Amino acid sequence: MSEPLVYIERNRLRQLMKDKLVKAGLPEEQADKTADLLIFADERGVHSHGAVRMQYYSERALKGGYNLKPKLSFEKTGPASGIYHGDNALGHYVSYQAMKKAIELAKTSGIGVVGVKEMGHSGAIGYYARQAALEGMAALTVCQSDPMVVPFGGTEPYFGTNPIAFSAPRKDGSPILFDMATTVQAWGKILDARSKNKSIPDSWAVDKNGAPTTDPFKVNALLPMAGPKGYGLAMMVDILSGSLLGLPFGKHVTSMYKDLSEYRRLGQLHLVINPEYFGGKEQFLEKISQMVEELHDNPPAEGFDKVYYPGEIQIDVMKQYKKTGIPVTKEILDYLESDKIY
Ligand code: NAI
Repeated sequence: MSEPLVYIERNRLRQLMKDKLVKAGLPEEQADKTADLLIFADERGVHSHGAVRMQYYSERALKGGYNLKPKLSFEKTGPASGIYHGDNALGHYVSYQAMKKAIELAKTSGIGVVGVKEMGHSGAIGYYARQAALEGMAALTVCQSDPMVVPFGGTEPYFGTNPIAFSAPRKDGSPILFDMATTVQAWGKILDARSKNKSIPDSWAVDKNGAPTTDPFKVNALLPMAGPKGYGLAMMVDILSGSLLGLPFGKHVTSMYKDLSEYRRLGQLHLVINPEYFGGKEQFLEKISQMVEELHDNPPAEGFDKVYYPGEIQIDVMKQYKKTGIPVTKEILDYLESDKIY
């Protein structure tokens, strides 16, 4: 995030975002849920998926890139499976509703698997997996995105930053929430380095010949995390959230930024597992508590304060922002407070 920063109280920032989305044409209920997703990211310090996206969403809404009057529907395809049709609405509300269906299925069938078909960008996908954890279940959410990552050993972008989120409940605290892109670094970090004219580590990205580069202006594609392993995970995500649902995959996924008037037709997949149908809920919660305690007792290595469970570090950020307000750039605040739609 570039300077100067201003600090805004959480609910005020949420309201500003909601109002702007309504102005851009989103139905009230959708705007409200989208603002919830954006504040969820910002208040945890995941600024790449918060207010910084507002101008883009508003512009795309106005240019016709989202269906603002979607006919959302759920098609049950089996005892524990279904497809949620997003009708190319902006993805946050769609994905939230789809996860609600997956949770319902898991309550009565032990598992619930719901594919989301045809929607716009859906933000920080950990939100959806966490929805299930808040109801005492474990969940996995995966989501395809547009090509900007080279396959291991290749030179041309093929997969997206294809994120994976996993969440599990805790009996006495915030759920475990593991939520990550399958790249070494997010695209936003390259843009940030460009804006500051700074070099980047050679482990983040490659140039047009597939060679590692430290020059952010020469970046042609991002690198998958952990080489062939991240590449394999990105492929898994795309197969489960694209091909499985009959949607465009890999390099055929529509670009986030090229034509803002076209529908993106993105896919996502939620898998919810009800512990009552496996080892039982009580023992599940006990074992997770024990695991977290044992991890917290693990002596920190040099340079570390403590061992965190996934998602915990973001809870610390939330506590800090409750005192200070959420940092956004002055430019973003000016935009949100203005009458401009984009
Ligand atoms: P990140 O690198 O900031 O965090 C990844 C994970 O590591 C998190 O679960 C975090 O809690 C955990 N973590 C971080 N520091 C830790 C520590 N010291 N100890 C233990 N655990 C720690 O996440 P990344 O990859 O930058 O992704 C950010 C967001 O971008 C995610 O919410 C993701 O869903 C979203 N995203 C969305 C896309 C979309 O198309 N909808 C595409 C790509 C990413």
